[in-house]
Amino acid sequence: MHLLRLGSCYQIFTYNCIFLFLYLCWATVVAQTTNNASVAQQVDASPGPRPDRIILTWQTAPATSQTVTWRTDLSVKTPQAEIAVADASALFTHYATRHPAKTETLQTTNGAALYHSVNFTRLKPNTLYAYRVGNGTYWSEWFQFRTANDKPELFSFLYLGDAQNDIFSQWSRVIRAAYAEMPKAKFILYAGDLINHAENDTEWHEWFTAGSFIHATIPSLVVAGNHEYARNSLGIPYITRHWQAQFNLPHNGLNTQKGLVYYTDYQNLRIICLNSYWFVAAQAKWLEEVLEDNPQQWTIVTLHYPVFSTTGRKNENLIRHLKPLFDKYQVDLVLQGHEHTYARGSSMSAGTDKETHQAGTVYVTSVSGPKMYELTHKNGLDRSAENTQLYQIITINQDKLLYKAMMVTGELYDSFELQKRKGKPNEIQELNPIINQERNFENTLKIPHDNHDNKD
Ligand SMILES: [Fe+2]
Repeated sequence: MHLLRLGSCYQIFTYNCIFLFLYLCWATVVAQTTNNASVAQQVDASPGPRPDRIILTWQTAPATSQTVTWRTDLSVKTPQAEIAVADASALFTHYATRHPAKTETLQTTNGAALYHSVNFTRLKPNTLYAYRVGNGTYWSEWFQFRTANDKPELFSFLYLGDAQNDIFSQWSRVIRAAYAEMPKAKFILYAGDLINHAENDTEWHEWFTAGSFIHATIPSLVVAGNHEYARNSLGIPYITRHWQAQFNLPHNGLNTQKGLVYYTDYQNLRIICLNSYWFVAAQAKWLEEVLEDNPQQWTIVTLHYPVFSTTGRKNENLIRHLKPLFDKYQVDLVLQGHEHTYARGSSMSAGTDKETHQAGTVYVTSVSGPKMYELTHKNGLDRSAENTQLYQIITINQDKLLYKAMMVTGELYDSFELQKRKGKPNEIQELNPIINQERNFENTLKIPHDNHDNKD
């Protein structure tokens, strides 16, 4: 009896072990399927003691402050940043001041990591600074950035549509081409869907790896797209936990959407960043206050979902709540994403008048990553494209705004100039692109018939 009981205990123990082993195998497969939706990990996303994912943003005024955020593993106990006015002599480092960082822990699909940030304040306007981040033992290289001027002067910035897919493989060439064309861009505006799976740490690592030192050198302004939202176990969407950890943005918008709805004044430009994913009516109330009390000469709004869809989507709440404010306060430009096409036009009611060159708000959607959709709604468009990876350079020079959409291969695809006029709508001048023919799926590259295996 005693031996039998022992045998049966042994059997139960064995079955439990087998069950536990099978469960662990299943859980591992499920976790890998859920968390690493990329076909293969193209980058090693593990954090270490050395700083990585270094990115500049602004929490406060671009003329007098600069925020830097970076990542390490859990071993780092004394995160800090150093900053000095840059000088051609390497001895500038002796003048650096040291600043302790704020740190938060982020649990990710690749394990836990620390995110550190420092907001450098009391900087001098229009001044070149050098900074580095680290822990006293391991340091980044010294990066340089220039603060904004405290009065209007010519400047350019980059605007990029969705990166989202094959980020390391096929988006990297876009951010790098944009940087090569305009290395003195003052910031990069991202119109959402930076990655495909909101909580997938490896995809975020692809994004940071593709951008590399560019993100540590040129500040980013980011708005969230639908792909920055994950769902909890009840199916309720939430903004990825990566967002607040890695993007330190102004908290001057809605309290309920910190770092998602905000504005930044860069010299004579007000850039208003909206969250098109939800609660648009509440944002419209806030938006009106920000537009009403706006001392800047130029106003650009950015959001992910387009007000006017060119692919047949319905964004009626954006038309109902936002467009009337854009018209009333003469917003100059609305920069958007989500469509995986290129489209530029003015709103029909106050849009481009070809005879008088009078322009209302100009709306653009663009795409930088490789995923492409068909244009199905082309009414009212002044320029469009399918199957084309693009980046945009926007230059503001006092009362003129020059817009250029560039193909990743370097050719100018779309360009216009806006001229401010006192008491009148902007004047728009179409500028000749290098590529005249409108690109579409029929006249651009297709997958070769004999080589379908090349396409993921
Ligand atoms: Fe999207």
